[in-house]
Amino acid sequence: MSRLANKVSLVIGGVGGIGGAVSQRFAREGAQVYATSRKDAESKPESAGMGSVHTIRADASDNADLQRVFEQIRSEHGRIDVLVFNAGLSEYAPLGDISEDHFDRTFGLNVRSLVFTAQGAIDIMQPGGTIVLIGSIAGDIGTKGYGVYGATKAAVRSFTRTWANELAPKGIRVNVVSPGPTDTAMMANASQEVRDALSSMIPLGRMGRPDEVAAAALFLASDESSFTTGAEIAVDGGMAQI
Ligand SMILES: NC(=O)c1ccc[n+]([C@@H]2O[C@H](COP(=O)([O-])OP(=O)(O)OC[C@H]3O[C@@H](n4cnc5c(N)ncnc54)[C@H](OP(=O)(O)O)[C@@H]3O)[C@@H](O)[C@H]2O)c1
Repeated sequence: MSRLANKVSLVIGGVGGIGGAVSQRFAREGAQVYATSRKDAESKPESAGMGSVHTIRADASDNADLQRVFEQIRSEHGRIDVLVFNAGLSEYAPLGDISEDHFDRTFGLNVRSLVFTAQGAIDIMQPGGTIVLIGSIAGDIGTKGYGVYGATKAAVRSFTRTWANELAPKGIRVNVVSPGPTDTAMMANASQEVRDALSSMIPLGRMGRPDEVAAAALFLASDESSFTTGAEIAVDGGMAQI
């Protein structure tokens, strides 16, 4: 398949978990993918299907790192066709236990970095470009202990609507994929009891897989969604939909 043939794609938080699945899927669809991570070593572009994944060491919460990434892509390709902002952190802190550090780190990455990444990227995006944000159904429901996280994801949903409106005249679409519980490192610390309890709240009876979130991101990134902007696709087994 080549739904993203020759599309220059930047996946912020693009190694491992949902972001890793997005990077690999996009590359198999023909994209030249730049995937950022704090941890992984820089790599030359590695072929994946018809495209490639090029890992760049960068901290998504560091604006200087992000500017360096934009400069590299500008010098190598002159443009970004698809931006995916996937990096995010989620920590348990019920009201009464919310520290300033928890608040600042969560909003700092999930909202502040997302805003300044989008603002930096639009300088090198052209008509036909797409922005796909990774939100969460936590922004729509009131999960005990995850108030700050949920508020960041509600902000992501809100920015999707505003930016879709602001960028429509430039021919750039903006949409959000909102996963429900998905089997990644973010869920790895959950006990079997918690996992079973979560699964029992999901109509389809199980957690999602990263590749299922990537499939929705691919739809929104590709021309197949050419008349869709400002929209949210939930990939949650129905958890927040019924
Ligand atoms: N898993 C779920 O159940 C679930 C449900 C709904 C929404 N989501 C959302 O999906 C996205 C990906 O989550 P995931 O499940 O794939 O989790 P994950 O495996 O823990 O990946 C988290 C991503 O965020 C980056 N990141 C984490 N902390 C960071 C920090 N302090 N500074 C900079 N980057 C940081 C990581 O980059 P590095 O490579 O640098 O570590 C990684 O790319 C997040 O936005 C999350 O909110 C997940």
